[in-house]
Amino acid sequence: MDIIHSVAALRERLQREPNNVFVPTMGNLHAGHIQLINIAKPRAACTVVSIFVNRLQFGPREDFDKYPRTLTADCAKLEAAGVDVVFAPDEGEIYPEPQTYTVEPPDIQHTLDGAVRPGHFRGVATVVLKLFNMVNPHSAIFGKKDYQQCLVLNNMVRQLALPIEIILAETVRAEDGLALSSRNTYLSLEERKEAPRLYQLLQKAREELKSGARDYQRVELDVMADLAHHGWKPDYIAVRRQSDLLPPENGERKLVVLAAARLGKTRLIDNVEVERG
Ligand code: PAF
Repeated sequence: MDIIHSVAALRERLQREPNNVFVPTMGNLHAGHIQLINIAKPRAACTVVSIFVNRLQFGPREDFDKYPRTLTADCAKLEAAGVDVVFAPDEGEIYPEPQTYTVEPPDIQHTLDGAVRPGHFRGVATVVLKLFNMVNPHSAIFGKKDYQQCLVLNNMVRQLALPIEIILAETVRAEDGLALSSRNTYLSLEERKEAPRLYQLLQKAREELKSGARDYQRVELDVMADLAHHGWKPDYIAVRRQSDLLPPENGERKLVVLAAARLGKTRLIDNVEVERG
């Protein structure tokens, strides 16, 4: 496995591997990332993983500084997973000058997570486009835990006609249901025991919607109330259309329930897809 820090060295290495598949990450890797790599590997002769904590997608009061940076441990996991190339640039390599040209996603960037984290999806789309231009992959894999991110990036690739297939992977969960996330390491022992409640409530909401519930607001408020009762601070619980995250019409069959809530100082997000007959 080659560990590469500069764009020039990456381009040179990948000249030999025109047919590569790409997994962009911010490091602090867990089984969810390894799942993305397992999906990637059979798709190309060369699997490329990037590790870059992207300042552009963090708000001024967010956890950019304390975001866990664990490059040595990450590389050991990637080597064991059979990755071919790790691209781990420093900030000056990705942003050698202030990034004044950015990717401006449409309205979807202002709803849900985008409403709570202004500029977040501009930062994500901009860095992912830059990484795509550096790696030049034929496919890239993203996890559905970041559901809104998946839609933003899928739409970007389609509308800008990038020759890249976007593959979405199911969320990987701990045995108790908690979605794996690098931010789970912020949870105290007590909070970690409480954390699976988010997914349990989403599953309950899914069952209600599948059994025909049409009052989406009541479904959302029930989840909010239960979380608040157990000490959480929900940012949003939202029943939306899978295709564009707009509020669903009655009769919409493909729904997704998205949630973001703070447990102590940790912000967790999760979602469940719902298909109604
Ligand atoms: O999902 C992530 O880890 C990040 O948002 C991504 C896609 C690597 C861009 O920084």
